[in-house]
Amino acid sequence: MLSPEENELLTRVGAGTPMGELMRQYWLPCLISTELAPDGDVLRIRLLGEDLLAFRDTQGRVGVVGPNCAHRGASLFYARNEEGGLRCPYHGWKYDVDGACVDMPNEPPESSFKDKVRQPSYRTAERNGVVWVYMGRLSDPPPLPELEWNMLPEAQRHVAKRIQFCNWAQAVEGEIDQSHVSFLHTPGNQLKIEAEDLARSGVVAWRKRDKHPRFHVQDMDYGVLIGAQRDVGEGMSYWRLTQFLLPFYTMTGPYGEDPTRHTRCWVPVDDHTTMVFAANYHPLRPLTEKEVAKMRAGSGAGFVGDPNFAPPTNAPFGRWIPKASRSNDFFFDRASQQTDHFSGIPEFWAQDAGMQEGMGPIYDRTKEHLGTTDAAIIRVRRSLAHAAKALLEAEEPPPGVLHPDIYRVRGAAALLPADADWVAETEEIRKLVPGVNPSAPGRQ
Ligand code: FES
Ligand SMILES: [Fe+2]
Repeated sequence: MLSPEENELLTRVGAGTPMGELMRQYWLPCLISTELAPDGDVLRIRLLGEDLLAFRDTQGRVGVVGPNCAHRGASLFYARNEEGGLRCPYHGWKYDVDGACVDMPNEPPESSFKDKVRQPSYRTAERNGVVWVYMGRLSDPPPLPELEWNMLPEAQRHVAKRIQFCNWAQAVEGEIDQSHVSFLHTPGNQLKIEAEDLARSGVVAWRKRDKHPRFHVQDMDYGVLIGAQRDVGEGMSYWRLTQFLLPFYTMTGPYGEDPTRHTRCWVPVDDHTTMVFAANYHPLRPLTEKEVAKMRAGSGAGFVGDPNFAPPTNAPFGRWIPKASRSNDFFFDRASQQTDHFSGIPEFWAQDAGMQEGMGPIYDRTKEHLGTTDAAIIRVRRSLAHAAKALLEAEEPPPGVLHPDIYRVRGAAALLPADADWVAETEEIRKLVPGVNPSAPGRQ
């Protein structure tokens, strides 16, 4: 349970709020590079409650600028993207990717007024197919975080996004909550443990047999390491390790031999909207056509899937709004609760979104009752509140901003003796070691 003040601190991300200021000190993943073509479409985006426009100029540079022309405020969404900048269609003023006014054709040629005018803009960076935006205070932006999915060639990873209509913190809390997996994502009407489940080994059966994982949490220099321990019998435990990295990254554990891995970025669009930026990757090799096709088809944990988005609109991130939504109850079907899906919601990602959006845009956490399986949620909230408050008094940037290498970690999973030192025993498999990809227990 949080006090009203603590809930406000955690959830509000507008300019001037403690959490909003914390977020602004980090690079924000925003666009997939292919969303912007040179001299192509101008896209409406929105980050941390600020409406912005993104475009790629003739030279391929990405600009992120304020939405209203510095002259008299016409919307630059209607701008002509041509010859190295955006030209406002109202009176022809033109701005480059840095916001400099480079042409003012309705003023006399001898006027130097254009040199005094700037369009608000933010710094951008592009690496391996992803465009990042920096809204922070440093005059020289910090390095990009060394997250594995964005350090690899594009052929080794697949990225896609989706918009979720709730506050970013309740979406993150859903991701770090391993306890729901035994319920929400259970196929069929199968909570009952059958004899065959007792005989089986593998993650699916373990989750079914032990529905109350013990949670263990450890503060790390990048955020929080979360261990969910399930009893698998014979003195052994299945450990699934989720990483929370400031300010909004999560990495859950992999499955099976030579696994693909994933990271999700829960980027606040505003207080009531979250952009879920999902990346699946293989550390050692290009993804196969079959793997990419499956991700494009979607409806798994990570990806909505190309066919499952609503028709694109010009709204901020309007290409990434799923068909399944609160307006159609995420295609909920009560009859299917008895047959196909414990939740009655068919698409895997929508099972999560349905629960998280169903709480309302910002859940009133004064009303919650946290149990032992919510230990990770409590610790991550504390980590975020601590970082946000520290920034109010600090001269130094928050954790990780100037140390991009602390992001060189992975989610992990392992079978260990029940009384093992879980942090020490998993140290090696949690490190990002180039050329190495430890296996994990499989789903069978
Ligand atoms: S409002 Fe944009 S040029 Fe006048
Ligand atoms: Fe889930």
